[in-house]
Amino acid sequence: MTERLSVFGTGYLGATHAAGMAELGHEVIGVDVDAAKIERLSRGEVPFFEPGLPELLRKHVESGRLRFTTDAAEAAEFADIHFIGVGTPQVKNGYGADMTYVDAVIDTLAPMLTRPAVILGKSTVPVGTAARLAQKVRELAPVGDEAQLGWNPEFLREGFAVEDTLRPDRLVLGVDPKNPGRIEEVTRRVYAQALERETPFVVTDLATAELVKVSANAFLATKISFINAVAEVCDATGADVLDLADAIGHDERIGRKFLGAGLGFGGGCLPKDIRAFMARAGELGVDQALTFLREVDTVNLRRRQHVVDLAERQVGGSLRGARIAVLGAAFKPNSDDVRDSPALDVAGQLHLRGAEVRVHDPEAMDNARAVWPTLHFADTPAQAVQDADLVIVATEWREFRDLDPVATGAAVTHKRVIDGRNCLPAQAWIDAGWSYRGMGRLSS
Ligand code: UDX
Repeated sequence: MTERLSVFGTGYLGATHAAGMAELGHEVIGVDVDAAKIERLSRGEVPFFEPGLPELLRKHVESGRLRFTTDAAEAAEFADIHFIGVGTPQVKNGYGADMTYVDAVIDTLAPMLTRPAVILGKSTVPVGTAARLAQKVRELAPVGDEAQLGWNPEFLREGFAVEDTLRPDRLVLGVDPKNPGRIEEVTRRVYAQALERETPFVVTDLATAELVKVSANAFLATKISFINAVAEVCDATGADVLDLADAIGHDERIGRKFLGAGLGFGGGCLPKDIRAFMARAGELGVDQALTFLREVDTVNLRRRQHVVDLAERQVGGSLRGARIAVLGAAFKPNSDDVRDSPALDVAGQLHLRGAEVRVHDPEAMDNARAVWPTLHFADTPAQAVQDADLVIVATEWREFRDLDPVATGAAVTHKRVIDGRNCLPAQAWIDAGWSYRGMGRLSS
């Protein structure tokens, strides 16, 4: 059944959700306060890199099933179901999440709701937010109790956002059990296709739905920091964290995924979500419950420092004037996102400590340049490594993993490589005469 939907916020989450919902057969209007972004999306252009999204967006903008506006009133008039997909970044002067954008959507939209409507929040928010917003919606909406809010967290991964939206591994919906209204029934209609495929659908209360999202991200962050902490011990003993991760990963209770030791996690979600989770636990008087996340964060940030220190040792004790190629700026491959990117952080720190850094990334150069305008950016990996004293692979893009160690060796001044993501075929590089340093494994 075709529903009329709006999606507030057209970033990685909102734009993908809007296009995904159109693909599921709904009529969708995307809303954003950024006029330039809306103009580009209306032309069928995606303002960021996300595989598969440009095709999907163009298809549905052309079919007329998907359109974009800066006018919230147009969305309130058109749609019966409104998704909130705006950002909740870390606040400037603390660990908490900045709720300005989410609140702004409610303050704008709710007073325009003159007929029954359902609002479904997707943004990652501190537990307790949804209950507060549900109350606010009832107060502000002319239609009163017929304006109902539920929470439907999003688990999409950048780089796989389209797939995760069209074929989610689970759906979660939070509703107020004392006041469930029509929210579950409406949500079931929106996701009818996924539900027909028997996608697990967890319907719970608002607080649990909010906590599901941050708990999932906190667990993933913990898994990564766990293996990175073990990598530090491996480095101290000569053990190999790759073999170790394979071996413990065979235990189904542990699993091999997210045990990739390296430069650690970054991006727009994991780092800020664990900090906001800690901040919220503090407000709730249970900060001790999550103090371990402080350590998860510390282990993670120590990875970046470790690579900078290792680089200094590799080039003979001083970074001043050392020519270093940093391959990668995005926080992970298949993304142009440099938010809290370990790769870009390492490049920036090396630069500040006097190294002559050349950065290349297949997609994230413009975003990286905006953050670090003083870094030197090379158009190709070959230009980045030319005459380098050290090569650091900081994001595991395929084109870096596939670099030919012999040809690369002919271009550099010193054959030294730090494999910050344990993604290179180490033996091939060693055989080609390179000094190879992995993360928690093999060095030559
Ligand atoms: C994450 C969650 O996976 C997703 O469910 C949620 O909706 C949003 O946050 P994303 O930020 O796109 O998604 O990235 P993800 O693939 O989780 O990777 C996060 C970071 O962890 C990257 O910097 C990646 O390089 C790093 N990572 C991942 C590791 O260092 N080791 C691993 O084994 C896995």
